[in-house]
Order: sequence, then C-alpha cells, then structure tokens
Amino acid sequence: MKNIIKHNYSVTKLNRNKLNKHNSFLIWFTGLSGSGKSTLANALELKLHKLGIKTYTLDGDNIRKGINNDLTFSPNDRTENIRRIAEIANLFIDSGVIVLAAFVSPYKKDRESIEYVVGNVNFVEVFVNTSIEECESRDVKGLYKKARKGEIKDFTGINAPYEAPKNPDIEVITDNATIEESVDKIYKKIKHKLYNG
Ligand code: ADX
Repeated sequence: MKNIIKHNYSVTKLNRNKLNKHNSFLIWFTGLSGSGKSTLANALELKLHKLGIKTYTLDGDNIRKGINNDLTFSPNDRTENIRRIAEIANLFIDSGVIVLAAFVSPYKKDRESIEYVVGNVNFVEVFVNTSIEECESRDVKGLYKKARKGEIKDFTGINAPYEAPKNPDIEVITDNATIEESVDKIYKKIKHKLYNG
C-alpha cells in the first residue's frame, strides 16, 4: 500500500501468548453446508475454553449477517468473504486468541490464500468430510430442498462446486462418528501446538 507505513507496537504476539500461557493459531473447518463444521467448532471451542484457553469462533452464517452482509455466493464474493475472514483471523491470532473458523470455503485457491495470510505454522485445516447425501438428508436449514427446487442459485454441492482438500491436516468423516469422537480426533492433533515454544 502506497504511503502506508506499518507502525510496530511494543506489546507483541509473543508477549500476549506468554501472558495467556498458550499459543495462538487458526483452526479452519471446511466442508459442505450442513456437514457439521459449526457443530464441531462449537464443541471444540467449549473443550478448549474449559481448559482455560482463550478462543473465538468465526462462523459463515453469522459473519454474513454482519461485516460481510454485502457479499453473495458468487465465486468472486466467496473469495472476498474468505479474504476478509483470513485478515480478521490474523488479527485475532496476533491478539493471542485461538481462532476457530467454520466456512464452506469451497475453492482450493481461497483456502491456500488463508494459509498465506496467517502463515503456514498458524494454519490447521480441518476437512469436515460429510457426504452430500448425508448433508442433504439432514438438511437442518432446509436449504438443500430449496436449492433442488431451483430457489437458490450457486448452492454448494448442488449447482456450485466444492473442491475437497487433498491433503488436509485433519479429516473427520462425520457420517459414522459422534461429535465427541471427531472433537477428540481434532484435539489430539492440535494439542502439541497449544503449549510448545
Ligand atoms: S463460503 O462459501 O463463502 O465459505 P459461508 O461459509 O460464508 O460460505 O456461508 C455458507 C452458509 O450460508 C451455509 O452454511 C448456508 O447456511 C448458507 N448459504 C446460503 N446460500 C448458500 C449458497 N448458495 N451456497 C452455500 N451456502 C449458502
């Protein structure tokens, strides 16, 4: 940015992490609508909170009612949605908080850009791999039914693509696992990142 010069503040992320006695990074949940991202983020956040860890969850449906209420589900707007969230998550990480983010984030290139913004060491990608059949049969919000009737355009999995991660840090297959089992799996994989160096 021309004519913008970064100001460095005396209190750093490291200072905040020391004060909090834990590291801060981003746990990113990607998957189809209704796959269970928000449910798992919620359950994991509760577990971390009970352990005395400072957390915050960013959720697609909630964020789109507020700061991102100007965005649609076109490919460009989804990219902008994810770009803003990556920047917001980056601020939260700097503030010393473990960020959980639950967004469909269907495009591989957008997920790669999150990793670029927050840094590879701060990015944990969780693929909530629930089949479209299962998501559609759950249809918690009734959106699949509407999409099938042609009432929603660009609906992920029906008339818009979902590019599944090929190499996620963690994959949970929720079709046959309980919430507790999936949360345990994620927790076991992130545990070492919470307190080291
Ligand atoms: S993203 O693709 O830009 O990452 P985001 O996670 O913010 O999506 O929002 C997805 C949520 O919006 C879904 O859980 C669903 O409830 C709702 N939604 C409404 N319209 C659509 C659509 N066309 N495609 C996907 N989700 C939609």
